[in-house]
Amino acid sequence: MNILIADDDPMQRELLQGFLQRQGHRVLCAADGAEAVAIVRAEPVHLVLLDQRMPKLSGDLALAEMKALNPLIRAFMITGYGAVDTAVSVMKLGADEFLEKPLDLPSLLEKIQRVEVVLAVDEEVAAVEDALEENPGLPLRLIGKSPAMLELLSVVHRVSSSPWNVLIGGETGTGKELIARLIHLLGTRRDAPFIEVNCAAIPENLFESELFGHEKGAFTGAAKQRRGRFELAHGGTLFLDEVGELPLILQSKLLRALQEGRFTRVGGESDLTADVRIITASNRDLRIMVEDGRFREDLFFRLNVLEIDLPPLRQRREDIPALIEHFVARYADRPVRLSHEALDVLVKYAYPGNVRELEHIVQRTLTLTRGGLIKPADLPPEVRRAEMIDHGLLQERIEAVEREMLVSALERTAWIQTRAAEILGISERVLRYKMGKYGIRRREV
Ligand SMILES: Nc1ncnc2c1ncn2[C@@H]1O[C@H](COP(=O)(O)OP(=O)(O)OP(=O)(O)O)[C@@H](O)[C@H]1O
Ligand SMILES: [Mg+2]
Repeated sequence: MNILIADDDPMQRELLQGFLQRQGHRVLCAADGAEAVAIVRAEPVHLVLLDQRMPKLSGDLALAEMKALNPLIRAFMITGYGAVDTAVSVMKLGADEFLEKPLDLPSLLEKIQRVEVVLAVDEEVAAVEDALEENPGLPLRLIGKSPAMLELLSVVHRVSSSPWNVLIGGETGTGKELIARLIHLLGTRRDAPFIEVNCAAIPENLFESELFGHEKGAFTGAAKQRRGRFELAHGGTLFLDEVGELPLILQSKLLRALQEGRFTRVGGESDLTADVRIITASNRDLRIMVEDGRFREDLFFRLNVLEIDLPPLRQRREDIPALIEHFVARYADRPVRLSHEALDVLVKYAYPGNVRELEHIVQRTLTLTRGGLIKPADLPPEVRRAEMIDHGLLQERIEAVEREMLVSALERTAWIQTRAAEILGISERVLRYKMGKYGIRRREV
């Protein structure tokens, strides 16, 4: 890292300089604020250690100028002992840390290492974002600024520049396919095909021919020779989705293709080769399947050279507002805004179906509401129900659940009260009484 020390005390400068150079940093020095700013103007400085009291330009003012020159610069402000008051104002100026004299070197080092980690992640995230921006035609928008997503992006960046097979895990709807495509697009194979195989969707008897192709007349219905996905992915990436669904017999065939780099078309004689990078995804825990003997261990190790785990949405709720905005922009045919209350309900919801569920919730809400403002009552029942169950006193909760059950029974029976009462196991009279109590009326359609 390039570190600038700005301090008017030469002893302090030398001490720090020697210490940081021994840690492998490139160290620049300035004896006052103006000189420090001049250096930042001329050199790529990652971190500046700023003495707050300096001649010519104080640390505060110097920091403001440096930030204007390079918004990404990190700064530690060094103040005299007990200057907590100024520390607050210094943090407001954009310093990342403030340290008191005399400096505690181990703690300084620890803070510098933390900055290094953040910078490395930032750089990788920026590389991913640049790559996405350079290709405006990409059908890819990846939303996520939560720490979990930034960490993920930095892993994606490292993974994409390596040749190894990748296994992507994560609950349903977390974005596994999106990440697989992103890895392909960021890597050296981006100009070759990205071929997808959904292992759950192909009937077992057709699978081999799907993957490896078949010769004319290999089986009934094989009227023509057909190339398999392996061949089609040559030079590129083969994405095996839901790989946990692959039957054991096909696992062996896949393993052979991976081990030997060779395969045969169904009904074919000769061995074919293809150069493919394999990315697999599974929402099942393959390790458990290996233990139970449902997934071959040797195949697992082949596929799982690099592993990426997508965090469920409930562990990165910070991303929910941006995702909503993204989906509203994609699906709304009119200007639409969410009320604070509706947004609040959505941010709190648990999303068992993760990002895909959120996407569907936005789609449904947009088609079912008319106006330009979405209120909590416009949200799908499962979202509201969860909210109601989370809050309130027992009596309120019971009433909320009761009301929900009434509405849902009525909706299911097209508002025929006799049938709704039957479903609910109450008399029609009680149903009418409760409808009155909760003010349930059929909404105008
Ligand atoms: N970070 C994200 N930003 C924007 N859209 C996202 C993001 N993550 C997921 N999506 C969208 O959510 C939907 C589900 O994502 P995807 O199909 O990649 O999930 P998956 O993990 O493969 O799901 P499954 O396990 O059900 O196959 C897609 O429409 C995808 O575009
Ligand atoms: Mg998927």
